[in-house]
Amino acid sequence: MARTKFIAGNWKLNLTIAEGTALVKSLVVPAGVEAAVFPNALAVHAVAQAAAGSKVGVGGQNAHFEEKGAFTGEISTSFLKDAGAKYVILGHSERRQYFGDTDALINKRLKAVLAQGLTPILCIGETLAERDGGKLETVLKTQIEGALAGFTAEQLATLVVAYEPVWAIGTGRTASTAQAQEAHAFVRSVLRNVVGALAEKVRIQYGGSVKADNAKELLGQPDVDGALVGGASLKAADFNAILAAAG
Ligand code: PGA
Repeated sequence: MARTKFIAGNWKLNLTIAEGTALVKSLVVPAGVEAAVFPNALAVHAVAQAAAGSKVGVGGQNAHFEEKGAFTGEISTSFLKDAGAKYVILGHSERRQYFGDTDALINKRLKAVLAQGLTPILCIGETLAERDGGKLETVLKTQIEGALAGFTAEQLATLVVAYEPVWAIGTGRTASTAQAQEAHAFVRSVLRNVVGALAEKVRIQYGGSVKADNAKELLGQPDVDGALVGGASLKAADFNAILAAAG
């Protein structure tokens, strides 16, 4: 099954509006590759406008589960959509680690994302202690089943999953291509149980210190369908090299 490679740049809490709009205009997306950037919420609108008509989509880094109301400080999927977003990252390990995102909370957020017709990127991944403790498969299975509980395969038609080993995020350590492929194949096997035949269509991105020099090899693995890139998505030359490696 040919799956369109999907390269996403997670800018996290970096890049001003001016920096983000300039960067998005300098990206070059090869034919047949899907690309998106995830600016700070305050920059989503400006970056989406700067990217209009280009092949780069824009998304939010998180979203509250309610659309509107008395939720001081939150950002919702309807506001993201209004600002021009097409995607939303859910359950990033930094959300899980610093802001208390649980699988149950991510499940509620996912419902709101799908209700707005936005494409979710569900992040999953184990810590080093979990991997060393032989819990890799249990952790991934629990995160997938928890986030996707209660949805039909039809509802999840646009789902993207990002496998990001926590020990590889921002550390310069990357999973070996064999470790990545093994985890991705396992993720797809869990997805088969949860969403059936749709599992063959779900793009599974790898994330964790993806750089120009390791992207090609990672993206060459049969179950690695793209990348979720943090640090290396902040500079046009670095991100363009990763986009080129996907083409
Ligand atoms: P990194 O971040 O590429 O800087 O390791 C990846 C991510 O957190 O999505």
